[in-house]
Amino acid sequence: MLDFRLPAPRLRHALLAVLASLLAGQVSLAQAELSEESARILASMAPGAPAPIAGELVHIPPTLEDLEASSLHPELKRVIRRGHDIFTNTQQYRGKYVYNELNCDSCHLGAGRVPFSGPVWPAAVTLPDYRPKNDHVNNLEERIAGCFSYSMNGQPPAYGSDEMLALSNYIQWLARGVPMYPDAKLYGRGYPRLAYAAEQPDYQRGEQVYQNQCAVCHGNDGAGLATRGETVFPPLWGDGSYNWGAGISRVFTLASFVKHNMPLGQPNTLSDQQAWDVAYYVDAQERPQDPRYTGDVEQTRERYGDTFHKHSLYGLEVQGRRLGDHDNVGEKDFLKPEALRSRSFD
Ligand code: HEC
Ligand code: HEC
Repeated sequence: MLDFRLPAPRLRHALLAVLASLLAGQVSLAQAELSEESARILASMAPGAPAPIAGELVHIPPTLEDLEASSLHPELKRVIRRGHDIFTNTQQYRGKYVYNELNCDSCHLGAGRVPFSGPVWPAAVTLPDYRPKNDHVNNLEERIAGCFSYSMNGQPPAYGSDEMLALSNYIQWLARGVPMYPDAKLYGRGYPRLAYAAEQPDYQRGEQVYQNQCAVCHGNDGAGLATRGETVFPPLWGDGSYNWGAGISRVFTLASFVKHNMPLGQPNTLSDQQAWDVAYYVDAQERPQDPRYTGDVEQTRERYGDTFHKHSLYGLEVQGRRLGDHDNVGEKDFLKPEALRSRSFD
């Protein structure tokens, strides 16, 4: 929905500045000040976001205009464009790979380019890597599959399929120019953890923030708004939203997402306390079952506690209800997608 397209020549100028400093090492403010142009682009992509600190690697991913202007092979351009299209309109696969109302860019704003909004290019330069969530080494396709299985409450496209090729090609192209396995910390990666606020997150205060700042778009019932099969405002809970195994069902992840991205168009305007409170409120609402469900919510919470659920409210009693204690999997007719089968090198 948000589009951060900038005039191509200016962006290319900025990219060159960043890439030049990349070649000289990683961009580090101590050695190489961000050019005014890059600083301006960052400020327009993520208004009010924390500035880069010395030693961090800053990368401004290319835009579709840059793609068109580039000398890449037309067939390669076509596949990258296709990846962008799937990323921004994932609903075209509703009932096939996607069983809720979200698009990839519902959570990775600006087509996955924006810092502090889970920009997707870092995955291309840091994977394969060990991932505690599934306790083995994941490649880019498996990382993409994870967001299909949990965030989209779906069934990932097969490894090696056209759709996987297009998505991974788009993500790798966004990382253009960044060294593989960089040592530096990546500026704005993921949804960087917010400091704890003065008070414990609180359901009632969260509900207040929700009513005042969120309900106008996402609805009193959290169901969002869709017209003619197109998601205008994505659902935050219920069958149309992410499931209990999604990264954003962890309160700290949602708190950071909200602080840096919501209300839409006014990022970084809530206080940290408001972000924690509203995240607690939203993540205390019901949603489709965790695909790792064993049939017993307490056992599932326990089994995935260390690596995941110690940060979620799943299986806990909030407002007199035990959360996640049901076998509702939303719109799909299966619990566990194929791609969640564990790998091993035994
Ligand atoms: C409901 C929100 C949500 C949706 C929708 C979503 N993701 Fe994610 N995604 C996340 C979260 C949360 C993370 C983990 C971020 C972190 O570690 O802080 C993540 C991480 C990623 C990463 C790794 C980024 C990194 O820094 O290594 C990739 C790649 C990715 N998602 C791709 C996708 C794709 C492709 C889709 C659509 C099929 C998608 N995501 C849909 C929430 C979402
Ligand atoms: C002006 C409308 C608007 C307001 C107000 C707003 N949002 Fe959103 N929100 C959106 C849109 C649109 C998206 C999807 C991003 C996109 O398409 O660019 C989104 C995405 C999200 C997502 C990720 C996708 C999903 O459905 O889970 C969460 C979580 C979220 N918003 C939470 C909040 C919270 C909490 C507030 C209040 C603090 C809030 N939003 C206020 C419009 C809004």
